[in-house]
Order: sequence, then structure tokens, then C-alpha cells
Amino acid sequence: MVRETIIIMDFGGGHSQLIARRVREARVYCEILPHDTSAARIKTKNPKGIILSGNLHDIGRGNTPRIDGDIFSLGIGILGISYGGHLIVSHFDGKLSSLPQATDNNIDTALVTDSLLFSDISAESQCQINCTATIGVVPAEFRAIAHTGNQSIVGVEDGDKKVYGLMFHPQALHTSCGKDLLKNFLYKVCECSGDWDMTDFAEESIKRLRDYIGDKKVLCALSGGVDSSVAALMVHKAVGKQLVCIFVDHGLLRKDEGDQVEEIFGKQFDLNLIRVNAQDRFLSRLKGVSDPETKRKIIGQEFIRVFEEEARKIGRVDYLVQGTIYPDVIESGVGGSSVIKSHHNVGGLPDNVDFKEIIEPLRDLLKDEVRLVGEVLGIPKDLVWRQPFPGPGLAIRIIGDITPEKLEILREADAIYRHEIANAGLDKVIWQYFTVLTGMRSVGVSQDQRTYDYTVALRGVTSIDGMTADWARIPFEVLDRISNRITSEVKRVNRVVYDITGKPPGTIEWE
Ligand code: XMP
Repeated sequence: MVRETIIIMDFGGGHSQLIARRVREARVYCEILPHDTSAARIKTKNPKGIILSGNLHDIGRGNTPRIDGDIFSLGIGILGISYGGHLIVSHFDGKLSSLPQATDNNIDTALVTDSLLFSDISAESQCQINCTATIGVVPAEFRAIAHTGNQSIVGVEDGDKKVYGLMFHPQALHTSCGKDLLKNFLYKVCECSGDWDMTDFAEESIKRLRDYIGDKKVLCALSGGVDSSVAALMVHKAVGKQLVCIFVDHGLLRKDEGDQVEEIFGKQFDLNLIRVNAQDRFLSRLKGVSDPETKRKIIGQEFIRVFEEEARKIGRVDYLVQGTIYPDVIESGVGGSSVIKSHHNVGGLPDNVDFKEIIEPLRDLLKDEVRLVGEVLGIPKDLVWRQPFPGPGLAIRIIGDITPEKLEILREADAIYRHEIANAGLDKVIWQYFTVLTGMRSVGVSQDQRTYDYTVALRGVTSIDGMTADWARIPFEVLDRISNRITSEVKRVNRVVYDITGKPPGTIEWE
């Protein structure tokens, strides 16, 4: 199917993902390409428009990537944001004027309302300016369309060429008109109609998978996580029992999680599911190991070994399904985008499993879109919208060595924490929240007896993508309830602390 496409050219600075998310929220499909992609290659994708996204660079200083100037002859809308705005100004021989110091401020911006980009947007909107320069000399044939309160120019356009340069971030939360501005670019400048829809996507993909797979055999490692669940279910809808799912229960899941996976996928959706109860095997491999990286390695290797052993019992399969999503594709620098892809050596793939290709049905999707597809397919909401959970599971939430007793303590404490957060209506607000069994024991008192027991740490963060995070401001009364319940209901815990560290300098997980 021919789909309206917007290309985001990534000049670094980490904003491209968020811009992509905003574009897709506006129901327009987009792809992120590296900044040095040629105009010829972009043309093959037949895009409706291009967004140049970048930050942290300053023309004339240090690392200053350029663009293929031929993109300006494609006759489509082009929006340069921050560094992208700089590029447009300098490409058309305008000049920037450096700000006395790099700013990271919110500035009230008076917008010229007759630009198509600002249609139906208030003349005064708050914008997040995050540049080291504003526009000193507007290029010939361009005009200024946005000023800050002190009259610095932060937006220019050549309306005839449909080229726009901005020195602020429309994708940022602090830019109050940002969503409308991006919609104006997509719908008014690029004349998109908004044909990106998750129900259509799911139906089309299932049909394509069915045609492609035919009567062949497919294998999938189902972890119970959102991505692998949605990918597996999509293939199941396409080819039913030709798909075999292997669920390796490593014993490091949260309370009742293994049984839930089996109940939902094995019973409700009737997937061909093999649950491998490998708890003892993982625990014995992890016995006495306290170094976080060693734990991760052992779990990763053991997982593949168990998977291989099970897969060998099944014999030759034709395809392996993976829940790779778009951010993984960009991060691994693979680029490009198609639903079905040949076997390649992504780290962590089993070596001995005999299959000829990998199928990645979610390769084009952002995380929120995967969740929407999950809903379309009928996966329960609480599973589809559940918070991220690391592959190594509870092993990296127990500081030091892992024992069955510690796992039990952590599981119980974590279940209470999750229950109370949901009760307080905070489960959709906090991006990720979990308990950590710290390696620390301390003195306490219970029923007039001295205790010497574990300290449980509560972690709760808000974040957009996990790359940075802030600690969540959980109300004291909720924390109080959680602490009371954990210390009274979970054996061997006499102290609860709340982690108030952002990322950076902390990470979200403790190990
Ligand atoms: P950190 O701790 O690095 O975590 O700030 C960022 C996000 O990544 C998750 N995470 C992992 N996910 N395998 C995973 O699948 C891992 O080894 C792993 N380590 C961290 C973490 O839960 C958070 O959402």
C-alpha cells in the first residue's frame, strides 16, 4: 500500500524520536533517516515532506553536518527545527546571530499569524527555544515569521518553496502551539490527509504475513513483554497453529506473571505455546553471582541455550518471529524499513536454531503504536499498557546474589507496590515503578523484639523513552501506605526507602 510518508532527517541531538512520535500521533507515517541520506534516495520514498531535526550543533563550530542541497528542489514541504533551521538559513545565505550564552529557556514568542505554519495559532505562544543562535539576516526571498519578546527572529519561511526554518522546538512539551504547528506543516503545507491508522496497519500486516508465510512453520520466543506478545499474536492471527511459541520461564518474573502469560496466550488466544519451566536451572547458574554484568550475561546465554534446546525438539522451522520495534532499528543503525527481512546477526539470536528468515512485524512501529495494535488485536489493556520490564527480570533488582528467599521477598513487596500505585490511580502517570531488594540489612524493632532485616527501595520514575528520567512525586500518603503494608506483610523486611534520584546521574534500574 502507498502510504503518505514524512522523512525526518536526523542531525543528532536526540529529538528525532519525539518528532516522529508527534508526526505519527497526527496520523501521518514517518521514517527517520541519517542526515547524510542523499536527495536521490529520499526521492525514492516519495515523501510528502521533510523535517530536518537537530540540536547541539552550531554552524561554524565543531561538528557541522550538512545536507544534500538537492532536497530543496524536490518541491515538497521542508521544516528545519533548531539545527535544521540553522541549516536552512545558512544554505540560503542568511546569517545567524549568536546569543551571548546558550539558552535553554521558555520564551514568549509573538508569531506572525499569516504564515500557513501558524494557521489558527494564537499570536502569542510560549515556545521552547533551545538554540545557541537566532536569525540575524533573513535569507533573500524568505521572510521572518516568528520573533521572541525581544525581537530576535526565531522563524523564517519561503512560502513559495514551502521551506520553513525554526529556532525553537515544536515537539517540546513547553511549546504550547507545537502540536498545532506540526499539524499545519503536515496537513496544510505538505497536504497530507492522515492515512496512518493502527487498525488498517494490523489488518494489512496480517494479510501480508499470511501471504508471505503460506503453509510454512514459524517459531517465536514469547517473553510476555508487550513487543513479543503483539508480534506473536499478529503472526498467530495470520497462520494460527503453524506458529509455535516458546516461553522460557526463567523464574525471574514478577508475582504470577508466568501463569498469566500461559493463561492469556496459551488458553485465551489458543496459541501453540510451550512453557519451559527453567527456574531451577537459572537459579543454579546464578548461585553466588553478585556482579550485575555477570548476572546479565548468564541470563542472556542461558536463555538462548534453553530456547535452542526446545527449538531443536521442534526441528526445522522456516521463520523466526522477533518483536523488534522501530527505535531498535534506528538505534542499531540498520536503517531502512520493511516488514520481512532476511536473517541477520543481531546480538542474542540463537545460533543452532535452523530457520531461514526472521520476521519482524513491528519493525515500523513506535512503542505506543505497538500498544495500540495490541489493543486492536484484543490483548487485555493492562498487559498492553504495562510498564517496561527488563529481560533479566528481578535478577537486576536484587542487589548482590540471588536466592529463592530474596526472590520471594521482592515479588511480594513488588506486588504490594504495584497494587497500591494502581489503587491510587497513578499507574498510568508513573512511567515505571518497581521495588529493589537492596543488599542492605539494618536494625529495626517489631513487637518489642530487635530485628535485623532487609531494606526494600521503591523506585518510581517519569520518562518519555527511558533515556532520561525524573523521580516520580508520589504523594506521601501513598508512600506511607506502601511502606506500612510492605513492612507488615512481607517477612524479613523492616525498612522501606524511596529513591529520589533522576537519570542521570542514576539509572532507572539499580543494576
Ligand atoms: P536504565 O536502568 O538503563 O534502564 O536506566 C532504562 C530502561 O531499560 C530497561 N532495562 C532493560 N531492558 N533488558 C531490557 O530488556 C535489560 O537488560 C535492561 N536493563 C534496563 C529498564 O527497565 C528501563 O525501562
